[in-house]
Amino acid sequence: MTSVITERVGQCPDLHFSAATVALFSRRFEAILIALGFESAWTLVQGRWIEATLIAFGSRGFAQVEPILDSSGIRRRWNRVLQNDRSATIAASIRPYVHGSVLDLLCGAGDLAAALRSKELDFMLCERYVPSVLRHKPFQFVAFQDIFRELADVTFDTILLSTVLHHEYDPDSVLHWAGAHARRLILIENAIDADNDAEYQMLVDIFFNHCLNVTGAPSPGSHRTLHEWEQACTPYGDISVTQRLPDVPGVPLSHVLLIVEWR
Ligand SMILES: C[S@@+](CC[C@H](N)C(=O)[O-])C[C@H]1O[C@@H](n2cnc3c(N)ncnc32)[C@H](O)[C@@H]1O
Repeated sequence: MTSVITERVGQCPDLHFSAATVALFSRRFEAILIALGFESAWTLVQGRWIEATLIAFGSRGFAQVEPILDSSGIRRRWNRVLQNDRSATIAASIRPYVHGSVLDLLCGAGDLAAALRSKELDFMLCERYVPSVLRHKPFQFVAFQDIFRELADVTFDTILLSTVLHHEYDPDSVLHWAGAHARRLILIENAIDADNDAEYQMLVDIFFNHCLNVTGAPSPGSHRTLHEWEQACTPYGDISVTQRLPDVPGVPLSHVLLIVEWR
């Protein structure tokens, strides 16, 4: 388990991407800026400039893009959509399946739990990067490093793994722990599919963690196809739901939902 618990905030990977991947990212970046209310001609210029920068410098080009996100207002508007609209969209899709005691495992800032909060649900949040990332303080919190000791004998009615596993160097260890402590496991992933290949997913992860927000969250590229995630979940129960979520605001990727029930 040590490989899971010792990962720390990382540096931006130094990668180059194909012209097709960069063009796809730039077009979807433009579409999000339009959805955020930016003017279309200006958006087009930003998109073409980002495309040229990423072609020339690879992922290091994000260091040039990053400063304009503040001065332009992109960062503020985009993060507001991630915090509110992304969380609300994912929450609406999974709400019927979330019940009882709930562990939001690697919860990020806790926005999804905040969107799901109700008096019927008893939430505990868990994150590796200590509560400084948490926006919503009233929840119970356990540091990821401590779950193996503090939650060794605890079983939750629901464990959420929302867009977490592809950020893990050892996703199977995290899944194994969750599978052993959940009556129902809710897995949301940005699965590799025909419109979102592994290289594109990597580019988007780097953008989110080293440009839109410089969190340094790991981008190990542990993405899989839906079929591969289904296979990975099989040891932990029966898969009762497999579905593609509606488009998630602010995220230029598709999302799949898997629900695994203890046998
Ligand atoms: C896309 S976030 C998912 C967070 C959360 N489960 C959700 O769906 O909102 C993926 C990973 O990034 C890490 N992370 C999120 N916010 C962070 C921050 N501000 N600093 C460092 N890492 C962060 C977390 O470990 C999390 O597992």
